[in-house]
Amino acid sequence: MEKKYIIGNWKSNKTVYDVKTWFDLIKEKFIRSPAIKTNSIEIVVCPPYVHIPPATKLRDEYKLPLKIGAQDTSPFGSGAYTGAVSAQMLKEYVEYVIVGHSERRTNFHEDDTMLFEKVKRVKEANLKAIFCIQSEQTPIPADVSIVAYEPTWAIGSGTPDSPDNANKIGSMVKHKLGTCVFIYGGSVTPLNVKDFLSKECIDGVLPGKASLDPQTFWEIITNAAIN
Ligand code: PGA
Repeated sequence: MEKKYIIGNWKSNKTVYDVKTWFDLIKEKFIRSPAIKTNSIEIVVCPPYVHIPPATKLRDEYKLPLKIGAQDTSPFGSGAYTGAVSAQMLKEYVEYVIVGHSERRTNFHEDDTMLFEKVKRVKEANLKAIFCIQSEQTPIPADVSIVAYEPTWAIGSGTPDSPDNANKIGSMVKHKLGTCVFIYGGSVTPLNVKDFLSKECIDGVLPGKASLDPQTFWEIITNAAIN
């Protein structure tokens, strides 16, 4: 059976204290549920840059079956690029990097050319890009390993796309790219996660808001694990 992906995107949220509290609670959940089948799911948490090192440290200390991801990276390598965080730097902490989230495209004016550069840097660092598309029209760089379909209107709105439509987009993307992991994001909750994961072409979900509260994120994990 293929692994299902649960990728939590914290966006621009949390203090160092909140990060510790989140990991403490998730640790308790794992301790109390030793039977949870995490070998069938890949759980990834994407904190803001500054919280990546403490999150990685807590994950290691608590021996949690979680991967850490970044929400973005620089289109450049290391060098004179004030304020930028390169994929080479991230490599010491993370395995995944989200690229092309609609909030980056809209609020930070990132265009396809820049996003394709970012994917190149991510690949050079041997990290996995989670490339976000807003519709089946969004250009996708060749051989990205994970494509996240996130219709802008579904993000943070409480109105997700239908699992059937997301599945249809997944089928188109897979047809176009050949093999790739296809995940859905946009108002994913513990209540709808199974509906998405039960679809043939949907390999995972990318919850934003629902990943912030450890209890809610845990419910997504458990519902995915028994899918
Ligand atoms: P949401 O965000 O789950 O809060 O809708 C999803 C995303 O933007 O990744």
